[in-house]
Parts: sequence; structure tokens; C-alpha cells
Amino acid sequence: MQSGDVTSKYSRQTVLEVRRWASPGLCSVRTTRPDGFNFVPGQFARIGLPEDKQSGEPSLWRAYSMVTHPEDPDLEFFSVTVSDGQFSPLLAALEPGDSLWIENNPFGFLTLDRFQDGQVLWLISTGTGLSAYIPMLRDSQTWDRFETVVLVHGVRTQQELAYRDEILQIASKINTPARSRLIYLCATSREPWPAVEGRPGPVAQAKRITAALLDGTLTTAAGVGLEPKGGRVMLCGNPEMVTEMRKLLAERGFAAGRRGNPGNLAVENYW
Ligand SMILES: Cc1cc2nc3c(=O)[nH]c(=O)nc-3n(C[C@H](O)[C@H](O)[C@H](O)COP(=O)(O)OP(=O)(O)OC[C@H]3O[C@@H](n4cnc5c(N)ncnc54)[C@H](O)[C@@H]3O)c2cc1C
Ligand SMILES: NC(=O)c1ccc[n+]([C@@H]2O[C@H](COP(=O)([O-])OP(=O)(O)OC[C@H]3O[C@@H](n4cnc5c(N)ncnc54)[C@H](OP(=O)(O)O)[C@@H]3O)[C@@H](O)[C@H]2O)c1
Repeated sequence: MQSGDVTSKYSRQTVLEVRRWASPGLCSVRTTRPDGFNFVPGQFARIGLPEDKQSGEPSLWRAYSMVTHPEDPDLEFFSVTVSDGQFSPLLAALEPGDSLWIENNPFGFLTLDRFQDGQVLWLISTGTGLSAYIPMLRDSQTWDRFETVVLVHGVRTQQELAYRDEILQIASKINTPARSRLIYLCATSREPWPAVEGRPGPVAQAKRITAALLDGTLTTAAGVGLEPKGGRVMLCGNPEMVTEMRKLLAERGFAAGRRGNPGNLAVENYW
């Protein structure tokens, strides 16, 4: 593991690879990992960059979920470039060999230890909210604790379905012809939904996740129910999606944990 110059709160790391996805504005940045930086799937890091590349010291800090698994030697972050944003355009402009600063400690509670074991785990995301779920899919504990995982990725168009090949690869390892344990729903809001792996034809007309929950498309396409008994739901990404889904799920009896009750709903807003 490579490491940078350690200060009290953060360390300088080196960019190893920048992967640019089909959709302009989406990229993934792989970096060296700070010594002793231990996290659990679903957590995020605070990463920093200097406003002026020449100045050297980081002055802008943002939260980014780890896409990599805790056992991987490096760290990877998946990013959308917000055109009038301060930080994401700088992140997207990085090249291998450049520096990126990472705080020493990970953060976040969108982790599976929030839940008791259950039958169906629904991992629902929009956009880069997918990031938090990739390490969970790669974690054996997820598959020990849940029979079935439904991964829902809400994006505008199919071009934005980053990590699709990796997810399909995990599905091909986990699923058998007799039993699908990972169900991957691509919820495109401006194009018809593509086919679910192993089932031909588009699943639905262009539709947001919220509309798909309301009209039953989500559960029909998944082929499994969304019930508070045995069901556990995570929501991650666009805060408006999170608020609206939360309301719809509350009507079905889902609630976040509180006062020692583990609950069956956990959420994370990205802005
Ligand atoms: C816990 C947590 C985890 C996060 N993980 C990620 C991650 O893994 N990948 C990632 O790209 N971002 C992630 N973010 C968002 C990230 O921290 C920044 O907000 C984002 O990179 C934009 O920074 P900016 O300075 O360019 O724009 P900001 O000034 O921070 O944001 C400007 C506006 O851009 C929009 N926006 C911000 N972030 C996003 C986003 N991710 N997707 C769509 N629209 C957005 C919002 O409308 C926001 O008001 C996370 C945020 C939180 C709180
Ligand atoms: N994603 C990219 O490839 C890309 C590339 C360049 C720039 N950008 C910029 O990055 C910013 C974020 O874009 P983004 O598409 O990644 O994130 P986003 O705006 O959060 O959209 C992601 C998905 O969430 C859906 N959504 C939005 N609000 C919702 C709600 N209240 N309930 C349910 N679903 C909801 C969107 O549907 P709708 O289609 O109906 O909105 C879309 O399918 C934008 O400024 C965009 O222009 C994105």
C-alpha cells in the first residue's frame, strides 16, 4: 500500500487511474489508500483538493462513498461532474500521478449493521448514489445475511449505467438458473427500462423509481415483494428522491431505526 505525507487529520494520496464512463460527466478516480484507513461497505471518505493546483494545500473538501471493497488495496470514488460545482470539475480533471487528499477516518451510517438479518435487501439509488452499494454487493456477509438483493439504479439514460458490467459479473457469480439472488433493475427515467438480466425485452416505459414504486412496476420487475416483514431498504442519492421514497415506504410500514430498534429503512442524501 502506498501512502503520502501524513498530517494530523489527512494525508496526501496519489491518483492511480481515472476511468471515464460513456456518459460525459461521469468518472471514477482510483487512488492509493491511506495507512490504517479502515471502513465498512457503505461508508464515505472526505476528500480534498486545492482550489489552485499550484498552491499545493487542499482547501476544498467533499464527501465521496468508497466504491472499492475494504479488502482492496486502493480506494475508488465514482463522481458526476456538476458543471457549476466547485469540487467535482477539479476531481474530474485529475490525471494519474496527481495528488488527492483524504481524511484519516471514514464516516457514515449507511451500513448493513443498521439492520437485523432479513430476506430481501433493497438497495435503491439514483445517480452516483450507486457507489455506496458496490462494496456491499462484493461482501460475503451481505449474501450470508440476505436471501435476495434487489439493486435499483435510477438514471436518466442507459448511457449513465456506470459499473453495469461489474454488477452483471457479480450477478453471474451469485445467480444460478434456478435462483436469482441478485436482481439488478436499471430504472431509466428518460428511456424505456432495459431488460432485467435473464429476462428479454424492456421492463417499463421511461419512469422514475418513485413512479415505479407507486404503480407496482418496481416489484413486478424485481419479481419479489417489498414488505416490512423480512424486507430491508436503503435509499441513497438525490435528496428529493430520498424524501419522496421515504414517504411512500412509510405508508407501507417501513421506518428508520431509533432508540435501540434497528428498523428496516436507512437513507443517505448526497446533497
Ligand atoms: C455522504 C455523502 C456521500 C457522497 N458521495 C458521493 C459520491 O460517491 N459521488 C459523487 O459524485 N458525489 C457524492 N457526494 C456529493 C459530493 O460530496 C459533492 O457534493 C459533489 O461532488 C459536487 O461537489 P461540487 O463542489 O462540484 O458541487 P456542490 O456545490 O457540492 O453541489 C452543487 C449541486 O450539485 C448537485 N449535486 C451535488 N452532488 C451531486 C451528485 N452526486 N449527483 C448529482 N447531483 C449532485 C446538487 O444539486 C448540489 O446542490 C456525496 C455527498 C455526501 C453528503
Ligand atoms: N449523469 C450524468 O451522466 C451527467 C453528466 C453530466 C452532467 N450531469 C449533471 O449532474 C447533475 C446531476 O445529474 P444526475 O442525472 O446524475 O442526478 P439526478 O438529477 O439526481 O438524476 C438521477 C436520476 O434520479 C431521478 N430523480 C430526480 N429527482 C427524483 C425524485 N424526486 N424522485 C425520483 N427520482 C428522481 C432522475 O429523473 P429525471 O430524469 O426525471 O430527472 C434521474 O433518473 C445535473 O446537473 C446534470 O446535468 C450529469
